[in-house]
Amino acid sequence: MLEVRNLSLSVSIQGNRVEAVSGVSLQLEPGRVLGLVGESGCGKSLTAQAILRLGEFQGVEKSSGDILLDGESLFEMSDEQLRRTRGGHVAMVFQEPMTALNPVFSIGSQIIEVIRLHLDLSKQQARQRAIDLLNDVGMQNTEQLLKQYPDSLSGGMRQRVLIAMAMAADPDYIIADEPTTALDVSVQKRIIALLLNLQKKRGLGLLLVTHDFGLVAEMCDDVAVMYAGQIVESGPVKEIFDHPSHPYTRALMGCRPEVSQSGGSLPVIGGQVPPPGRWPTGCHFAPRCALADASCAAPVATDAWHEGRHTARCVHGEAR
Ligand SMILES: Nc1ncnc2c1ncn2[C@@H]1O[C@H](COP(=O)(O)OP(=O)(O)OP(=O)(O)O)[C@@H](O)[C@H]1O
Ligand SMILES: [Mg+2]
Repeated sequence: MLEVRNLSLSVSIQGNRVEAVSGVSLQLEPGRVLGLVGESGCGKSLTAQAILRLGEFQGVEKSSGDILLDGESLFEMSDEQLRRTRGGHVAMVFQEPMTALNPVFSIGSQIIEVIRLHLDLSKQQARQRAIDLLNDVGMQNTEQLLKQYPDSLSGGMRQRVLIAMAMAADPDYIIADEPTTALDVSVQKRIIALLLNLQKKRGLGLLLVTHDFGLVAEMCDDVAVMYAGQIVESGPVKEIFDHPSHPYTRALMGCRPEVSQSGGSLPVIGGQVPPPGRWPTGCHFAPRCALADASCAAPVATDAWHEGRHTARCVHGEAR
């Protein structure tokens, strides 16, 4: 299991260190798809990148919590263990396929390099594996493709190449941060189908970062809803779709259930996500929430409302 446990991260904004991710917990199990969903600026990418300790290159620091891979802390791993973990056990698929590929090396040399970094294969064997992987992700003329450079491919093809690279060392987990956002709608569907197909075939644990609740419904087993650095609701997808409990989740899903106390319906989500350093002391969503009252001014526990594995960080969580 890959577990993010009570993780808090700080970033530097105008010379000050401020909290940008606050007490986030996630559990990613083999064979399951977990969606991490929320508006832009909620801290989804910071969280996703922290899983491989990639944010540290951009001044992101862990202030508390832990990340455990099969019980072992990523923060206690040696550089060598961490190198093997990145790509070997846990691989990433990024939003913008061009930035993740090096324009001056051929597709073949980049895939073969990743394969040989993690697997003890000869150059010839690695080349064959690269061809097999490219076939697996639905590419054609793969022998020829190995000699091509990233800029000669379409966005969708580049993302397929990146997915092939992510699969290179047979990882157990894939972290996909908005893997289709930069692609045309028709291509998006095919890439998502490909990811899901590989996930099932290989029994991978997949963390899918997205702002699209429709995609969550289609792809995920579980979902964690993130707002202003915190997980505000989490649980099995079906549960949350049938009974969304946090007003932010309901707003994101676009449902407007009758709210008994006020007698009205939830308005369209107005306002913006507050940036790190500007969060309210109590519930982070309160300034935008139709249900907010004095009780929302105090910090809210992650499971202020819960039913089985379904939890919501809302004192009005039962008002659904
Ligand atoms: N390295 C950094 N230094 C300073 N601030 C950062 C850094 N990385 C992210 N932030 C800020 O932290 C907040 C969360 O950023 P993050 O990229 O995690 O959001 P996100 O949920 O992935 O949004 P999007 O949907 O737009 O990708 C944003 O306000 C962002 O500006
Ligand atoms: Mg992001």
